[in-house]
Amino acid sequence: MPVKNRFAELLPEITAWRRDFHEHPELLYDVHRTAGKVADLLREFGCDEVTEGVGRTGVVGVIRGKTDSKGRVIGLRADMDALPINEQTGVEYASKTPGKMHACGHDGHTAMLLGAAKYLAETRNFDGTAVVIFQPAEEGGGGGDAMVKDGLIERWKIDEVYGMHNMPGVPTGTFAIKPGAMMAAADQFDITVTGKGGHAAKPHDCIDTTLTAAQIIVALQSIVSRNIDPLQNAVISVCVVSTDSTAHNVIPHVVKLKGTARSLDPGVRDQLEEGIIRVATNIAAAMGATAEVQYDRGYPVTMNDDQATEWAAEVARQIAGDVNMDMQPMMGGEDFSYMLNERQGAYIFVGNGDTAMVHHPAYNFNDDAIPAGSSWYAGMIESRLPAA
Ligand code: NI
Repeated sequence: MPVKNRFAELLPEITAWRRDFHEHPELLYDVHRTAGKVADLLREFGCDEVTEGVGRTGVVGVIRGKTDSKGRVIGLRADMDALPINEQTGVEYASKTPGKMHACGHDGHTAMLLGAAKYLAETRNFDGTAVVIFQPAEEGGGGGDAMVKDGLIERWKIDEVYGMHNMPGVPTGTFAIKPGAMMAAADQFDITVTGKGGHAAKPHDCIDTTLTAAQIIVALQSIVSRNIDPLQNAVISVCVVSTDSTAHNVIPHVVKLKGTARSLDPGVRDQLEEGIIRVATNIAAAMGATAEVQYDRGYPVTMNDDQATEWAAEVARQIAGDVNMDMQPMMGGEDFSYMLNERQGAYIFVGNGDTAMVHHPAYNFNDDAIPAGSSWYAGMIESRLPAA
């Protein structure tokens, strides 16, 4: 199974969908035009069921195979939302909306999965049910979580779920995947240090919040270097320091710190949360101040199941000849993780070639990746639900 021939024929059509989505980017859950077009196309392809409004604005399509001897259901997921970025690609189908752009290639993911849905609805050469999942709000809105909470897995009785993302720097149309953690858990924290403000020339009458905050910032790095197993991975970055003082000679009463904590392992994630609270509150106490810590868990680790990774890699290998399985995990977050937490499955990268990185204003999805990407989505169904 190299690239499926049908996708060479469908390439102009899939490319046209992709460029139409690119021209009309929508943010977070506000993907009404995109979701409407996805639903219309799925109906036009002859999908057996099309449901809109799942997890607010997600779309779910059902395609039944020629037979269904085992009642098995495989889910395929794409994301639909764009980013609040001013496009600088200069392409003729560039965003028509200033300040919004498809800078992560979700236009390409949606188009590739639509292509696979069209092919699967035409051929139905499988034993079981394919569920195509189009989610909103991947970029920070937790749309994958919203769809899961809206009953995605139970309503459609999904047994396994697979997702794909393009990746700049990986050769076009090739694939990269690894078992275990692919993407990080992405959490954020807010620390409010309260002391006693006053005249900067009379520190003995104050409780110095800036000195306390500075010690907290330094000590937080000891969590990564001293508490976390050196063979594990973790990042703590303090990114914002603000105070209620604007004067050179006033010790502020309150200093606020904001930052992010990334990890690839649920145990390390627990250690980061516990450690940040412990270090901040106790350093503050040692200085006679108080620290209030708000730790908010974001997307969980995107954790590929070992077996499902091998199944996904095998389909990719048949398309591209070889698969990069030595890639490093990335410390970015991905909310397909919520679906992978529910069912066995895997998340794979398809190469976008030598382009700007995702989330850059000059980034563009590479249409040359479409045949490989659509072939992989369709191939997952045909390989996991082999025709009876
Ligand atoms: Ni993305």
